[in-house]
Formats: sequence, structure tokens, C-alpha cells
Amino acid sequence: MVNWDGKYSTADGLLYGDKPSGIIDLATDRFPDRLGHILCLGDGEGRQSRALAERGFNVTAIDFSEVATNRARQQDQKRGLTVNRLIGNAAQPPEPEMVIDSCFLCFLHFSVAERQACFRWLKQALPLGGLLFLEGFGPDQPQHRAKYMSGGPEQADLLYDTTILKDELSEFTVHHQFCAEVILDDRPGHQGLAQITQMICEKVR
Ligand SMILES: C[S@@+](CC[C@H](N)C(=O)[O-])C[C@H]1O[C@@H](n2cnc3c(N)ncnc32)[C@H](O)[C@@H]1O
Repeated sequence: MVNWDGKYSTADGLLYGDKPSGIIDLATDRFPDRLGHILCLGDGEGRQSRALAERGFNVTAIDFSEVATNRARQQDQKRGLTVNRLIGNAAQPPEPEMVIDSCFLCFLHFSVAERQACFRWLKQALPLGGLLFLEGFGPDQPQHRAKYMSGGPEQADLLYDTTILKDELSEFTVHHQFCAEVILDDRPGHQGLAQITQMICEKVR
């Protein structure tokens, strides 16, 4: 298991930079009226939630790293942005229960048991028509990681495989799915040629 606090503490500056992932632009371009109260899980130093807050959305972010969350809070303050930041485990529902309309998981690569536990409570928490946005490393990333040092987990079951995710998210319809090679420049954490998966799902039952 990754020691996230340790990893963030040794980084010189923001580990994944401040530029949001592609799924943020897709979400705000295609579904601006349906994002409502957004929850960003595993938000780290806050590049995703900050971009959403900067575009005027109401965002809560959860990450279990205190180091990353404190850094995110400093960045919010510097930029005059408001994000409700909580330290917590994304595999468990937040306390007290919160009302959300959409949720983002970006590069949150946790174990199968944690991911499934997270999806279980998210299915309850999201309303019908609620949107779930996923972006992370795809099933072939270990080869890219070895060849290009572009980051991501080595363990196959932590990666975002659309077939598996669709199976685990059977209450959702898929509006967008993408799995391809891209060049990442999320410095210094994710750099170079990588395989990325994106999904946009809507809760329909
Ligand atoms: C690769 S980083 C990505 C951070 C951020 N989403 C981004 O794209 O820059 C993964 C993040 O997930 C967090 N994380 C991993 N497992 C978690 C869990 N079970 N609950 C909450 N956060 C978790 C880590 O602390 C870390 O900040």
C-alpha cells in the first residue's frame, strides 16, 4: 500500500501539478447544468476540485492524506477559492451523510474491495440522473510505466478497465468511455506516454 503522506511530503511542490485532468473539461463543457453539488474523491492536493471551484461549482473534496489536504487548503487560500475539504477514506460514506449530485474519481487507484465499497455507497448517495466521472490509468499502463516511467500502479486490479467498471456500475448508463494512449504532463508525478481510461456514467436505477 502506498504511503501517500510520505509521498507528498518528499515532493518539491505539487506532486501532480495544478492543471486539471481532461475529464474536468469534458464534464464542465458537456454537463454544466447537471453537476450540482460535486464530490471529488481522492482529490489529493486539489487540482481537480480547484478547477471546478474556479469555474463556479460547489465542491466537497475528500482525501485520506493530511499532507495533501493541507497543501490543497493553502492553494485554495492563495487563489481565493472555497472548497469544502475533508480528510477521510473514500471507501466509506462521509459522515454526516451529504447531499451530492455528481462525483469525480481521478487517479484514485484503490483496491478492488475498497473500490467496490466506494461504489456501493456512491450508488446510494447519488440521485437518479446523478453523474459519476472517472479518469485513471488503463489496464496496459504497467507496460507504459515500465517503458516511459509515466507513473501509476503496477498491480493490474487497481487499474481502470472499462469492462470491469461497467460491470460494477450496472445501475449506471455510460455516456462516454475512452481508453487510449495520451501524453501526461501532470508534473512531476505523471509524465510521458500513458494509457488512460475515462468514463462518464449516469445513475439510471
Ligand atoms: C494519484 S493521487 C491523485 C490525486 C488527485 N486525484 C489528482 O488527480 O491529482 C491518488 C490520491 O488518492 C488518495 N487516496 C488513495 N486511497 C484513498 C482512500 N481510500 N480514501 C481517500 N483517499 C485515497 C491518495 O491520498 C492520493 O491523494
